[in-house]
Amino acid sequence: MLEKRLTLSNDTTLPLLGLGTWQMPPGEVTYQAVRDALATGYRHIDTAEGYQNEEGVGRAIKDSKIPREDLFVTTKLESHIKTYQGALDAFDASLKALDMPYVDLFLIHAPWPWSDIGSNHDAGNIEAWKALETIYHSGKAKAIGVSNFSPRDIDNILSVAQVVPHANQIGLFVGNPQHETVEYCEEKGIQIIAYSPLAIGYALKDPLVVKMAKKYGVTPAQLLIRYTLERGAASLPKSTHQHRMEENAAVDFRIDKADMAELNRYENDPRQFN
Ligand code: A2P
Repeated sequence: MLEKRLTLSNDTTLPLLGLGTWQMPPGEVTYQAVRDALATGYRHIDTAEGYQNEEGVGRAIKDSKIPREDLFVTTKLESHIKTYQGALDAFDASLKALDMPYVDLFLIHAPWPWSDIGSNHDAGNIEAWKALETIYHSGKAKAIGVSNFSPRDIDNILSVAQVVPHANQIGLFVGNPQHETVEYCEEKGIQIIAYSPLAIGYALKDPLVVKMAKKYGVTPAQLLIRYTLERGAASLPKSTHQHRMEENAAVDFRIDKADMAELNRYENDPRQFN
């Protein structure tokens, strides 16, 4: 499964499965997790300036001696940066932290600062998007996109965009099917990338997930990850344990139509099962 790839609208390809690094402590924990993931066969690593672990990701990649062109690395613009120059500067800082000449995908992390979720930054997002287009044209990001953007947030960017975002990375998992955003992005040719496919671990205990995993003879984590792939998304399970990285990549099975319909209908905050 780790060799399977998806193609973005600009013909860049990315491995279907990647390692998520959100909530991985910076420094040695991130370094070791990325080394383990690369040794397991992962070739797609997702980080962000906001995770403060780009340095560990970059160092692990360098030490692995895997040719850079065999890897797909994503990072993200901090959510509070909503100016053209601020975005260019932050991108340079990310490249420096990663110690890389380019990234494969650069995303606006969120339409609003994490400190003020839901606030309106339409003008700032347009400024930031113009900076991402400049970066894309420079060749230092092979693809560009957004994260946590609703259809309305994307429409705002499209009102001026020369480059349609190549991807939208969203929290997609059983219980949070995100139908509106997924359908909208499909229509526009914007690839969905699923972060937190396990709902940060909470969905592993969901009774429907546990029951259905048993039916397919897989683990709850595998069912949850496969669900995101069946939705047409790339998927970024996070783990700092190599045996789980292996488990999370062993998802070469299909969820049948009726079960997908049941999972797609399921809307539930998974945290209540914790
Ligand atoms: P850990 O990093 O200790 O392995 P998400 O990808 O939705 O953000 O979920 C990440 C959470 O799920 C982390 O707490 C991670 O723990 C845990 N996790 C990842 N893979 C598995 C797995 N296969 N089985 C159980 N827990 C897992």
